[in-house]
Amino acid sequence: MPPPSAFSFPGGIGINLYVENLKKHFGGVKALDGVSVTVTEGELAGLIGPNGAGKTTFVNVITGLFAPTGGRIKLGDIDITGMPSHRIAARGLGRTFQITRGFEQLSVQENLLIPALAAKGTPRTEVDRKAEEIMDFLLIDHLRDELSVNLSGGQQKLLELGRVLMLDPDIIVLDEPFAGVHPELRADLHDHIDELYEAGKTFLIISHDMESIFKLCERVIVFNQGKKLIEGPPDEVREDEVVLEAYLGD
Ligand SMILES: Nc1ncnc2c1ncn2[C@@H]1O[C@H](COP(=O)(O)OP(=O)(O)O)[C@@H](O)[C@H]1O
Ligand SMILES: [Mg+2]
Repeated sequence: MPPPSAFSFPGGIGINLYVENLKKHFGGVKALDGVSVTVTEGELAGLIGPNGAGKTTFVNVITGLFAPTGGRIKLGDIDITGMPSHRIAARGLGRTFQITRGFEQLSVQENLLIPALAAKGTPRTEVDRKAEEIMDFLLIDHLRDELSVNLSGGQQKLLELGRVLMLDPDIIVLDEPFAGVHPELRADLHDHIDELYEAGKTFLIISHDMESIFKLCERVIVFNQGKKLIEGPPDEVREDEVVLEAYLGD
């Protein structure tokens, strides 16, 4: 049982993500060169690596945006390799984008409603209620009528997290959630992630910002040049010479 939380959304229902020997080649570029990663239900895992390591490609392939060149992806017992992204999202794997993809000329509230209304036959009143709860939770209710184009970088990241939460994912993949975010909002974002984690959500957080990941995550996975270098508790990974070398070479 996860500890009690102010957050009332359903927690994880017990699915793990299994990625086996995943490959993605772009012509001669081996963006992913055979990586195996497991994300276990209820954990807060981090994925780091220097620029070009293959982190975003990994997210794009596991969430169905790109078909893999090789390997397998399973969500619980279900093989989701090559499944279209909306079906993967409906199965409980939610993600944000490194480049925020909100509808710029729509309000914060509209941005929250749209993915949920498009995804499934949830009654409108329920979707409205949920959007209210999420705006409250993320402390963005005062921005409800603001066009998303007018939000700061950090506020856009909060909105992006809100859009993912609208679909009630079991596993939430965040791609560079702290990039370009003001330190104060960054601390807020840390708190929100912590609270959702306490409520039972599973996270895979991708960042080239090692410090945020070491602070937040209980397990850290390191990619370099399309391969997994090492994974382990933050303290171990932080001291690892191969990791330091990969970063210094960046
Ligand atoms: N759509 C694409 N077409 C061609 N090459 C790509 C594409 N996406 C990524 N790459 C290449 O794959 C490698 C890994 O990129 P990426 O996954 O974005 O790394 P990271 O997110 O770790 O910085 C890079 O060499 C990048 O140039
Ligand atoms: Mg990236």
